[in-house]
Amino acid sequence: MQLRDFRTYARAEAHLGQGLTVVHGPNGAGKSNLLEALYFGCTARSPRTHNERELVRFGAQAARVVVKIADGSQEHELSVGFGALADGSRATKRMTADGAPVERLLDVPDRPLMSVFMPDRLELLKGAPTLRRAHLDQFVAAIWPARAQVRREYSRVLAQRNALLSRIRHGRASQATLSTWDRELAGKALALRDLRSDAVALLAPGFTERGAQLGCSGELTLEYRPRSGACDEEEFVAELQQRLPGDLERGFSGHGPHRDELAILRDGRELRVYGSQGEQRLALLALLLGERAVLAAERRRTPVMLLDDVMSELDSDRRELLARELSLSGQSVIATTDLGHVPGAGDAAVTRLRVSPGAILQEALAA
Ligand SMILES: Nc1ncnc2c1ncn2[C@@H]1O[C@H](COP(=O)(O)OP(=O)(O)OP(=O)(O)O)[C@@H](O)[C@H]1O
Ligand SMILES: [Mg+2]
Repeated sequence: MQLRDFRTYARAEAHLGQGLTVVHGPNGAGKSNLLEALYFGCTARSPRTHNERELVRFGAQAARVVVKIADGSQEHELSVGFGALADGSRATKRMTADGAPVERLLDVPDRPLMSVFMPDRLELLKGAPTLRRAHLDQFVAAIWPARAQVRREYSRVLAQRNALLSRIRHGRASQATLSTWDRELAGKALALRDLRSDAVALLAPGFTERGAQLGCSGELTLEYRPRSGACDEEEFVAELQQRLPGDLERGFSGHGPHRDELAILRDGRELRVYGSQGEQRLALLALLLGERAVLAAERRRTPVMLLDDVMSELDSDRRELLARELSLSGQSVIATTDLGHVPGAGDAAVTRLRVSPGAILQEALAA
């Protein structure tokens, strides 16, 4: 990976190992920045912020990350730049895959899949259902890229139905026009529900298993709870019609997969409500590791796992369990202030990068 004017880094370069890479350095050294850069270089998004201006090094014009990928005998190069051109034009994002400009890096078939653990991500367990729905939909898109459009189509039709509801409410359209949209919405809603349900069926056993492996007290389970119990489009349309008075009153649709819940439970109780910080952290790890196993099986691609600040919060037994699980397959990158927190960090099989503000020192590169 090569960085240019990305956060604390003016120019820097790092090589990741084939297995575990440990990034270490004191607080504020640039560890999270390095993980963020890798994610940005592979997805053109930051896992930390929506405001990409923050990524540009203070005083610089544009940030750029280049990631070179060696996949068996194939080599690929992804690049993402963000910022203004020298002529002072408005800041934009530019992406290339193997030198050719692309609209969306997420659609590039050879890009590595990424999975991120950072303390902020505990919101996924603690926060509103919308975060879990979005996460589940991203997982669906990662397993079945060709079906990623189902979610977008559902949102589009839902927005159109909502606009119509609002016009009817204000007396500017008649209810008769709704039925076409209801049928259209029903088709998309059931397709989305079925994809989510299939994805959760694939993920749930591995999630429970990883929870047990990580030494979570109590059994972790994952449950998809769709709003609609409809068996076919007709039944879904009937459900919509039943709720029409409420929809008209509010001016938007209150029924459908945009209201579903992905419940994350420990011994049958919602972790969101009853879980301790440590339990929530282990559940998030179990979820990400479970997803990684599903993607490895379904797509023959193991996501690169980025783990920021996870070890310091785990007890030593659980650190061992996590390090062992990560060493089994794929690439992972762990950021830590203290090498002693990562079991086996000194092993020959582990790549080590020491960071200090603005610099990355490649201490070891494991093949
Ligand atoms: N756009 C930017 N340009 C220059 N420096 C930046 C920029 N954005 C953030 N920084 C600096 O980066 C530093 C934080 O780096 P980072 O979050 O990677 O630290 P860290 O090594 O993960 O530390 P910790 O162990 O505390 O998590 C801060 O000092 C911050 O001021
Ligand atoms: Mg950090």
